[in-house]
Amino acid sequence: MILVTGATGALGQLVAEKLAARDDVVLGTRTPRSTAERRVDFDDPASLDFTGVDTLLLISAGYGEDDVVIARHEAAISAAEKARVRHLVYTSLSGDGDHLPYALAHRWTERRIHHSSLEGTILRNGLYAEFLAAIAAPAPDGTIAAPLGDGRLAAVAREDLAEVAARVVAAPEQHAGRTYELVGEKPLGGAELAAATGGSYEPGSLARTREAIIAAGAALPFQVPMLVGTYSAIAAGFLDGTHIGHNALPELLGREPRSALEVYSSTIAAAHPA
Ligand SMILES: NC(=O)c1ccc[n+]([C@@H]2O[C@H](COP(=O)([O-])OP(=O)(O)OC[C@H]3O[C@@H](n4cnc5c(N)ncnc54)[C@H](OP(=O)(O)O)[C@@H]3O)[C@@H](O)[C@H]2O)c1
Repeated sequence: MILVTGATGALGQLVAEKLAARDDVVLGTRTPRSTAERRVDFDDPASLDFTGVDTLLLISAGYGEDDVVIARHEAAISAAEKARVRHLVYTSLSGDGDHLPYALAHRWTERRIHHSSLEGTILRNGLYAEFLAAIAAPAPDGTIAAPLGDGRLAAVAREDLAEVAARVVAAPEQHAGRTYELVGEKPLGGAELAAATGGSYEPGSLARTREAIIAAGAALPFQVPMLVGTYSAIAAGFLDGTHIGHNALPELLGREPRSALEVYSSTIAAAHPA
């Protein structure tokens, strides 16, 4: 049996769609809506009974301070060990992202898996093209002011990452012990994003952007350094995909990856219909 956690999140839903033809998949979510779904909440140990699960797809639950995220992942991995789950596949963060504030919890989780009794596979996901659309969207006048400097992001379509995850959990023994880097092949900078959306690129400073994020009031305190740190890492050239060694995305997909620029543009268009 395969159990997918975070199954109603954006990535988990796509994975679930790709595994829908199988009859041995259980969808784990904090809020089950049918008997086909099982309650799995890393914050509630009573919901973490993985008896009968052969392969657990642990989708990171990354929205929180490090201690919260680490406690969640520790609870999930301990429960998997207790239930004698054989394979654990974890959605981590690209090696490119070591400077990001949220890298710490991912690297902690990878180390915990390596030291566990489980056969682990680490999917080091790059940042989504959809996430780039959220943090580098044009203003109503078409200007992109995100502080990306001259940096570029090796953004990747979320759906490609879901497809890789689905393929790996379907044949986990082939991937046991492996760590895969999964990033976009054509890194995107502000000028390319502006050209694709018909506007201009006028990057702001990190300080002004931090002030604007705080002033907007929508970000939780821990999210402010996450966002500013993401811009900073892109601008400083750490996330362009050139420092990770081998990018396993094309071979694990068995085809050309989707265009991150097209995903960026279509996400922007869907968010701002004409
Ligand atoms: N690569 C990137 O660009 C990027 C961007 C943002 C986030 N991420 C990371 O990748 C993960 C998956 O991305 P996504 O796009 O699917 O994010 P998402 O749509 O926000 O989904 C995250 C899901 O994580 C699950 N989750 C949260 N807290 C949990 C808990 N306490 N116990 C169990 N499950 C919990 C939830 O699933 P249910 O609602 O079904 O319980 C939630 O919907 C995120 O959680 C985050 O760690 C990556």
